[in-house]
Amino acid sequence: MAQKKTILDLCKMKATGEKAVWVTAYDCCFAAYAEKAGMDMILVGDSMGMVVYGYQGTIPVTMDMCINHCQAVRRGAPNTYIIGDMPFGSYHESVGDAVHNAIRFAKEADVDAIKLEGGVAVADVIKAIAQAGIVVFGHIGLTPQSSAAMGGFRAQGRTADSARGVIEDAIAVYEAGARAVLVEGVPEEVCTIIHKTLPIPVYGIGAGSDTDGQVLVVGDALGMFEAFKPKFAKRYADIASVATKAFAQFIKETKEGSFPASEHKYSISGDSAEFKTLFKEMEAKFKG
Ligand code: KIV
Repeated sequence: MAQKKTILDLCKMKATGEKAVWVTAYDCCFAAYAEKAGMDMILVGDSMGMVVYGYQGTIPVTMDMCINHCQAVRRGAPNTYIIGDMPFGSYHESVGDAVHNAIRFAKEADVDAIKLEGGVAVADVIKAIAQAGIVVFGHIGLTPQSSAAMGGFRAQGRTADSARGVIEDAIAVYEAGARAVLVEGVPEEVCTIIHKTLPIPVYGIGAGSDTDGQVLVVGDALGMFEAFKPKFAKRYADIASVATKAFAQFIKETKEGSFPASEHKYSISGDSAEFKTLFKEMEAKFKG
């Protein structure tokens, strides 16, 4: 079994040019599949708001939801580097509150790092959490928690002005003490500048190929949503149709009586004559 990675391993991977791969997971089963497949990291993303809970976005996700899902993921993937995603509201009211919530992730859910969204605006928060000894991953570019302010889930950095803002955010999170940064939803050219500039690992989702690794949301990677697929996502499986077909077959077999078959049934231990007597007794009791 592979040894659990540390932030130093992730830095070594950057130095040698080996791409790190991560996926989101929210429960024990999918975390175990990711670990078995050899995933470098698992993000317990606040995308759980959409993937698990069916909300339109990530805003309703709470600290308690994140902690519970991180604990389940840790049980499923004890040897994988796990990143807990700080939900909206958990680091916005005060720096003290942010440090308190980051510590909850470390103490209650045994994560290896936390991730939070924003650049220049959250530099003081990143600095304080990093000073508490917790590994912080920044998240810049398209930041879903501020989608209302961005006018929707829109790619960022498409003009030189906007690109300058994303790059300034990247520098701010690095200077504040983030040990890695996730760049989401920007043109490849913008991520290339960040990747060539920052000495910390730069990971991407919808940010092109010039990164130290890629992350995908499990629902996108495994084709769990039929309604929607972001432009940058690739479907590596079609779980939605596999699951729908399997459920339809279960319904059919149960209704026609072919399930359960003999291999799904327990056998009696003891004398069958005794069971016949028992059956007759019960029949007499309830029918008579
Ligand atoms: O919550 C999440 O799933 C994310 C993705 C952008 C990776 O942050």
